Amino acid sequence: MTLTTNQDLDPVRLRQAFGFFPSGVVAVAAEVDGVVTGLAASSFTSLSLDPPLVSINLAAASKTWPDLRRAKSLGLTVLAEQHADVCRQLSGPVEQRFDGVPFTVADDEAVTLDEGVASFVCTLEREVEAGDHVLVVLRLHGFDHAEDEGGSAPLVFHRSGFTRLTRSGHPRYKESARTAIPIDPVLADRWSPRSFDPTYVIPDDTVTSLLEAARWAPSGSNHQPRRFVVTERGTEAFDRLASTLSGRNRLWAPRASLLVLAVRVDHDPDGTPYWHADYDTGQAIAHLQIQAHALGLVSRQMGGFDAARAAELFGLADPYVPRTVTAVGRSGRLEDLDEATIQREREPRDRLPLDELLLQEEG
Ligand SMILES: Cc1cc2nc3c(=O)[nH]c(=O)nc-3n(C[C@H](O)[C@H](O)[C@H](O)COP(=O)(O)O)c2cc1C
Repeated sequence: MTLTTNQDLDPVRLRQAFGFFPSGVVAVAAEVDGVVTGLAASSFTSLSLDPPLVSINLAAASKTWPDLRRAKSLGLTVLAEQHADVCRQLSGPVEQRFDGVPFTVADDEAVTLDEGVASFVCTLEREVEAGDHVLVVLRLHGFDHAEDEGGSAPLVFHRSGFTRLTRSGHPRYKESARTAIPIDPVLADRWSPRSFDPTYVIPDDTVTSLLEAARWAPSGSNHQPRRFVVTERGTEAFDRLASTLSGRNRLWAPRASLLVLAVRVDHDPDGTPYWHADYDTGQAIAHLQIQAHALGLVSRQMGGFDAARAAELFGLADPYVPRTVTAVGRSGRLEDLDEATIQREREPRDRLPLDELLLQEEG
């Protein structure tokens, strides 16, 4: 990274650079003249403990702030990870901002959302003009937060998109995709490590959410010619599926929490072929992988396995054809792998450049 001063600080590029700093998002809301009014702000900062102060920065051109600032008090709600749509709504048309969003109005007009991870009630302390924004200092009068353990996680705003926290202790040793322009972090940050935490057990509802993601993947004519065999580490079925893996896959994949066999369905009961079966099966696994990543898990697909043996061991006959095995779990420590696999894992992630992907017509 080379850094020169006196650059043209183009606001569009500057906004992109600012976007590298991750933040949470708060809903700032109050009942003003009997109307619930609010906006989303990613600039919440804790400012002082004594006196208790927080701040937010709002665009000087905000049409909502002139109303909000008149309220007796304001509610700030730290949005939870399931609030990406709520956040978009709070940044959209004024009259729809609270549609379908459960909230509570306090006596002093402060409005807090019911399912946030934390909420604060405050009054306006001071406003400071700051270029095209105004720095709003707020004095706290009350707060509440979710359970310390098992409470929901906050929504995270990063590089123009929403992402989730991955708990530290889940090692990541590869960089995110170097994209020409930002893409959604769930896509840019997904990766396929060979290192899995051999102690991690995936909760049942997480397995269900992975399968729901696969189930809702697009499908030609909606035939959905794909099936899955899901096996959990520690079971006989897992060992059976692991025994079909070939080459280096045999070394690392058995540490995963799940091995999922993706099975293509070649034709309908009358023998009419499903021409898109392979394509649809791949899409379903791609969706499963993205959902796994969104939940803080990792996954890696494997074509390196004995499909005929898997069919035999799991009693799968025409029209069912085993296609891939996907390892899913929590990422593990690189140093726990064998030396040759560690070397492979150290190779950078790369893809063909965009212009090589585009087929151009001659002339
Ligand atoms: C059809 C298919 C078969 C694959 N087979 C294997 C395999 O047998 N063993 C393996 O280690 N990785 C396998 N992979 C994983 C790819 O190597 C991996 O997706 C690629 O290295 C990109 O890594 P990334 O997702 O971190 O960018 C396979 C992927 C696909 C889509």
